[in-house]
Amino acid sequence: MVNIGILKSHKQAPLGVTPDSLKKWLPIKINFLIEKNAGIFAQFSDNEFLSEGAQVVSRIKVITQSNILVISDDLTDQDLALLHIDTLVLGLLNPYNNKSFITKLKKRNQQAFALEMLPRTSIAQSMDALSAMASLAGYKSVILAANYFKGYFPMLTTAAGTVPPAKVLILGAGVAGLQAIATAKRLGAVVEAFDVRKAVKEEVESLGAKFIMVEGLQNDMDTGGYATVQKEDELTAQRNLIHQKVIKADIVITTASIPGKSAPRLIEKNTVNDMKLGAVIIDLAAASGGNCELTEDQKIINHSGVTIIGDSQLAYALTSEASKLYSVNIFNFINHLIKEGLESIDFEDEIVKSTYIGKI
Ligand code: NAI
Repeated sequence: MVNIGILKSHKQAPLGVTPDSLKKWLPIKINFLIEKNAGIFAQFSDNEFLSEGAQVVSRIKVITQSNILVISDDLTDQDLALLHIDTLVLGLLNPYNNKSFITKLKKRNQQAFALEMLPRTSIAQSMDALSAMASLAGYKSVILAANYFKGYFPMLTTAAGTVPPAKVLILGAGVAGLQAIATAKRLGAVVEAFDVRKAVKEEVESLGAKFIMVEGLQNDMDTGGYATVQKEDELTAQRNLIHQKVIKADIVITTASIPGKSAPRLIEKNTVNDMKLGAVIIDLAAASGGNCELTEDQKIINHSGVTIIGDSQLAYALTSEASKLYSVNIFNFINHLIKEGLESIDFEDEIVKSTYIGKI
């Protein structure tokens, strides 16, 4: 019987299994070892895991007795000292921004797999934890912005006059950006969006937002569907237009990123200086340097009356929902990984090869 271990996250990251998702595993005969209180942030009790047939045990037991360890935080040096070298480690390992942890795993020759590096293929879609998290983060970014914004989202007509709708600008219309557009529209805002991938224009418009076109911009997309790094002249034209749009917006949500690279700088300090008092920027690219020059990761700052929130892990504010999605991603990934058995992992398989940290 294969033992899958689930460790408690100390930063409220999603859990790789939920009590409900354990039912999916029944036909495969897997034994689950869940760290005591692992579900506390996601509102799942130890009793719920127990009643679905999992074992709730100490952290030490999870680490030492698992064949597959699903993690959402770094393992400490103490954890690593206990970890068997044959144990497969997998999860959201943050491979691009947390090189020191990846180096430790690589030095030990640990077989570890980072879901962030999944290829963008249709078969990988059901394992794509980044997209699942991006979707939740896009939603939450608008809710958070609405909370900090002192104005009102929809147009309001009263006997005392008309309140105009909030102006929301979304920079980067990928998974998070499209969800942010949909959420801001539902709340009644006027929404504009920009992306270097012109392919998203139709999607943006179908959600009722206006797509901002930059003259002369190439369609900056690689064959894998990701954006590519832009040329300097393109960036300048883009920055000038974005400047004009940002200074008119009440709320700006930035989601632009390029995997493995620093986030593109889309909003300069001088643009923030020209923004309206009370405007709000939510920077979802904060962990990779931020799309705004003034962003500080995991911080809320006020610059001349503009609130700038840097947070790339907004999905973690919805831990319960995030865990429900993540547990499905983990189920599909592990089933793919060990489809021929624990001892016969196919390192030629595209999904296995792409996520294996040995290739970084
Ligand atoms: P992402 O998180 O890498 O980037 C977010 C957005 O920022 C992207 O739309 C990107 O084009 C944009 N961006 C990058 N540089 C920019 C710049 N300088 N200015 C403005 N925007 C910039 O991408 P995400 O959201 O994960 O996905 C992008 C696309 O890939 C989506 O269309 C999605 O549907 C597709 N996708 C396909 C998957 C699959 O087939 N398995 C899985 C995940 C996404």
